[in-house]
Amino acid sequence: MEIQVNSVSLVELNTKLLIAGMFEEDNVQDCGYTWLNDTVNDGIELAMERKDFSGKANKSLFLYGNSSSQIGRVLIIGLGKRSEFNFEKIRRCYGVAGKLTRKSLPDEVALMVPVSGFAAEDQTGIARAAIEGFGLSSHDFNKYRTQNIEDHPDLKFIYVIPAENENPSVIEAAVNEANSTIPGTCFARDLGSMPPCELYPESFADIAKTLESDRVKIEILDFDQIKELGMGALAAVGQGSINPPVLIHLKYDPGIKGDTKKLAVVGKGLTYDAGGFDLKTAEGLRHMKIDMCGSAAVMGLFKVIEHWSPQCRVDGFIAAAENLASSNAYKPGDILTSYKGLSIEVDNTDAEGRLTLADALTYAEKTIKPDLIIDLATLTGAIGVALGKHASGMFTDDDETAKLLTESGDIVGERVWRMPVWKEYLRQIQSQVADLKNTGGRQGGACTAAVFLKQFVDKTPHVHLDIAGTAFNVPLSYVPGDETPSGVGVRLLLEFLRRWT
Ligand code: BES
Ligand code: MN
Ligand code: ZN
Repeated sequence: MEIQVNSVSLVELNTKLLIAGMFEEDNVQDCGYTWLNDTVNDGIELAMERKDFSGKANKSLFLYGNSSSQIGRVLIIGLGKRSEFNFEKIRRCYGVAGKLTRKSLPDEVALMVPVSGFAAEDQTGIARAAIEGFGLSSHDFNKYRTQNIEDHPDLKFIYVIPAENENPSVIEAAVNEANSTIPGTCFARDLGSMPPCELYPESFADIAKTLESDRVKIEILDFDQIKELGMGALAAVGQGSINPPVLIHLKYDPGIKGDTKKLAVVGKGLTYDAGGFDLKTAEGLRHMKIDMCGSAAVMGLFKVIEHWSPQCRVDGFIAAAENLASSNAYKPGDILTSYKGLSIEVDNTDAEGRLTLADALTYAEKTIKPDLIIDLATLTGAIGVALGKHASGMFTDDDETAKLLTESGDIVGERVWRMPVWKEYLRQIQSQVADLKNTGGRQGGACTAAVFLKQFVDKTPHVHLDIAGTAFNVPLSYVPGDETPSGVGVRLLLEFLRRWT
């Protein structure tokens, strides 16, 4: 999907579909829509006079361009009261517009956003949220469909038309940002949608290699190297599959002289999690191809990082593996030696994510000595029980970073909610025979997992984001299907980078 500013007048605009948001209590002048109203033969004003449309959030009105225009249909979408606006509300309203036009979506649409009247610092954010809402809601994964593709439109182009009195540079800035946030999120979603028969550790590494560019380099460690280095935890999780594990290292260099900060982003990359010998139920197995959504967020970030161009170094780490049961699989009772040297007793083979992450975290810290490590992982069912689908769990001791991530999440509609990493949780993961065991019982399941991870980072500030609740099956207007990946994490990391550097 590509987004462009198109500063043509509506008289010249040629489009099958134009989407335009309107705030409640606004008239067509307030929105900069007098031309638009003319083009639809005063339809907006008439609908408001006759109380068919008032701009209430998520309410809609379909109109048609008059015969002297080249505009097919016009969808006006209500945005609620100006005084009650926030970015996510606008994103969701334009997402509803996407849902309403799905069945008849052309390849290209025109979009208008009423930003004038808002504080200068909010205007770009509002326009960006609108573009994201419509764009993200109009993306679909059609790689494996051979029929009825027309029912699953995948939008190619959005032309954003500045309304009357709108500053085109505000719209341009929003378009520029959306040209990172949308393709990054959609790439993460597509990876999450890939079937596990085609997305396995080595094919994941091949996809990562396609992201190489001027400023992005990729290094792959194979199974032999993983074993040689002594990554006993990652090796154990991956050894039960015919598809060997790999460690993918993605490197972004901003190309500036002198010292820059360094961020490490680590993603859980279980291309399939059957649970191992602690096998999941049929229901539990059904969607476990999505257990790589943490690393999909890392991939989404690297897909667009050059375009976003943060002024710091960013390194991504993905420990990719398949967790299966086989004659070669690891077993409950096994004792593993992690890359850090800590021994881990396997209490439950289904708590595999923390094992793969343990080695990836240590490797990230040792190899690049970052200023900060953020990991994203579909780590525990418990986080969904705690927070539902409305926020990812954030675990860290670093107050400053927690604040930046919280602010970033609020802006991009990917909320994070802080959870505790008290040392008291350590007691639950003490083993009788090793330094640690990999589960801590039902109580505080997301917290004991986070405290486990923490043991594998030495001194570097570390944030763990548990996205098991938010990565998949979230009821949001701008996520096209129920049982689809949301692409969570990409927009959060992009926004965070802007604040952190
Ligand atoms: N990948 C799962 C967590 C998960 C559950 C992600 C549901 C997305 C949706 C993880 O590997 C897992 O199996 N966790 C176990 C841990 C338990 C054995 C301590 C869980 O949450 O039940
Ligand atoms: Mn598991
Ligand atoms: Zn898992």
